[in-house]
Amino acid sequence: MYLEPSNRKPITLTTLAKMKREQHKFAVLTAYDASFAALIDAAGVEVILVGDSLGMVVQGQPTTVPVTIEDMIYHTRMVARGCSTALLMADMPFASYATPEQALRNAARLMQEGGAQIVKLEGGAWLVETVRLLSRNGIPVCVHLGLLPQSVHKLGGYRVQGREEPAARQIIDEALLLQEAGADLALVECIPAELGARLTEALAIPLIGIGAGAGCDAQVLVSYDMLNITAGRRPKFSKNFLTGQDSLQAAVAEYVRAVKSGEFPGPEHCIA
Ligand code: KIV
Repeated sequence: MYLEPSNRKPITLTTLAKMKREQHKFAVLTAYDASFAALIDAAGVEVILVGDSLGMVVQGQPTTVPVTIEDMIYHTRMVARGCSTALLMADMPFASYATPEQALRNAARLMQEGGAQIVKLEGGAWLVETVRLLSRNGIPVCVHLGLLPQSVHKLGGYRVQGREEPAARQIIDEALLLQEAGADLALVECIPAELGARLTEALAIPLIGIGAGAGCDAQVLVSYDMLNITAGRRPKFSKNFLTGQDSLQAAVAEYVRAVKSGEFPGPEHCIA
């Protein structure tokens, strides 16, 4: 049901934790400017992510690697102006959190100068000290596991992660360590659906999936992919929600409905 933004309560981490406990799925989308943020917020998305995917879909770069902390602060500030009820999450860009102290400085900038309410970092067990320090300083953290786009050159491409049992076990173990260190949310990208379901079950914190199957507590897509704006090929796990809709608002509302009802992702968007 569509609600005027003023009629909805702001979404907090407590809201999301309760949704996980009560098995109500929530919807996440990326935004990079105030107009899109307002449209997405009004459609009832619970979390807006200022993703470093902006490097590819807004700046036209081949990867997210060139995105800087200044770029992220600029776009987060724009999105904050259009976001009234959704929780505002911002990505920490490539090499902006190499040490816990650098992470604290840059996360504080995203919150103070950009208006972010939670920051997202890509990585596993090596982030434990960083998550602990951010958490101690009152900075909410989402950890991004599975396929790590900032490590594309190290990984040798955008590949499915966690296919074999040792790799799957490692993703689960690292997620548990990061939860223990104080992570508030986890996001997992491009893993088999069965592993997404195992990880959701193992974690007490909400798990957001992208290409991670229907078992996750929430789904995220790059808004330009699901609105068919992205030039070139869309990832197999994405879906064009503009098909059959007469407006961007209707397409986003349909995404929210499909995520909450468990219709999206369907088997054709999942990795076996
Ligand atoms: O940068 C981004 O948009 C992301 C999503 C792919 C989850 O991290």
